[in-house]
Amino acid sequence: MTVLQEEVENILRPLDLSDDDYHTVMQSMLDQMERGLGAATNDTAPIKMYPTYVRAVPDGTESGEFLALDLGGTNFRVLLVTLKGQEVKMDSKIFLIPQHIMLGSGKHLFDHIAECIYRFVKEHNLMERKLPLGFTFSFPCRQKGLARAMLTTWTKGFKCEGVEGHDIVALLHEAITRRGDLNVECLAVINDTVGALMSCAHTDRKCAVGIILGTGSNACYIEKLEKVEMAEGNEPGPPEMLINTEWGAFGDDGSLDFITTDFDRQVDKHSINAGKQRYEKFISGMYMGEIVRLALEKLRKNGLLFGGEGSYHMATRGRFYTKYVSEVESDDTDSFPMTKQIFQELEIETVTDQDCRLVRHVCALVSRRAAFLSSAGVACILNKMKRPEVTVAVDGSLYRFHPHFHDLMMEKTRVLAPGIRYKFMLSEDGSGKGAALVAAVANRILAEQKA
Ligand code: GLC
Repeated sequence: MTVLQEEVENILRPLDLSDDDYHTVMQSMLDQMERGLGAATNDTAPIKMYPTYVRAVPDGTESGEFLALDLGGTNFRVLLVTLKGQEVKMDSKIFLIPQHIMLGSGKHLFDHIAECIYRFVKEHNLMERKLPLGFTFSFPCRQKGLARAMLTTWTKGFKCEGVEGHDIVALLHEAITRRGDLNVECLAVINDTVGALMSCAHTDRKCAVGIILGTGSNACYIEKLEKVEMAEGNEPGPPEMLINTEWGAFGDDGSLDFITTDFDRQVDKHSINAGKQRYEKFISGMYMGEIVRLALEKLRKNGLLFGGEGSYHMATRGRFYTKYVSEVESDDTDSFPMTKQIFQELEIETVTDQDCRLVRHVCALVSRRAAFLSSAGVACILNKMKRPEVTVAVDGSLYRFHPHFHDLMMEKTRVLAPGIRYKFMLSEDGSGKGAALVAAVANRILAEQKA
């Protein structure tokens, strides 16, 4: 190894974890999950294991027309979902949530949501009908029932005042009442992981885990009811409940410090929720590009990349997008056309093939660590569930667009959950379909109660 190679190695080595490290991660995740489930230990557990009050996966008989809302990923969407047995029709519209709303007041946020519902309902000529609504709200909520969900803390890029600690169904209904021109009732709130699981379970009965690898990262799974000590009430139903783990908060007590690099520490320090969502920050799309940028900058400042030449863009936080990581890793390794194009946009003037190779190596290290850490999470849940065969529903932009994420996860899960047969199934539009399926079940129960 040359001296230069050795310097590169020294800078990047902390990003390369061993199977022993992944096993330690799994053990500590398992401990924290058990603590999250227990009534006596939940308070101090970083992984909250929220009961979802979703007891049954769909049986394919669900039918009717439903509105669905999807807030918490890349876009905000309003959907009209028509269920008829296995057949699902969907019509949706994307609305932007501008940053001043993401960081503004809760009242403003829910007024904006109500306004979007109004525009959608009007455009689809649904004003005269009272449609049940399912809300996919992808943030940690302490639920007290299907349609009562207190936001505990904002995650990802949101920070609206006056919502934490409040019931988001009540806030939505208040905004709808303020307008006075909408005839909708929210029957259920679900997390996007639950949406992914429900939507895959609609066609695959073995589906028992749902994960999101997108802007944020999280997982849900089917737990035995007797283990769910935090759920209230005693409704009749199957002896199971879906648990929204909120695994993104894993490590918030310092248990992942042993794998945390300087790059991770900087990402965390400059985020709007420093010290929080530590596991999510290793993995998800909101942070991955930034980890890569920091590593590239470190190499560059040591004269090991781009001949030491930097640029305004490369020095700007958040400017190296996660989609670049996918593009670099998909690039043709003979001539690197895409990689060169990216650095042209970032105004680095001279980029050699050797630079491209190093950039690619950094991207691969960071995304591999993310995929393997996700596998450790999945394997932890699979080992804990002890089912011989499980389908894992997956959704999220990172998983969808990264060229190797799926393969990397398959490879490492096999090592970390030996003896279990599993497959990863891409969930198609889980947030819309899942919300409608849960609303359909709630609607049926409501109708039965009235009868
Ligand atoms: C964040 C949210 C979680 C969500 C995940 C994926 O971790 O807290 O509720 O499921 O992002 O969108």
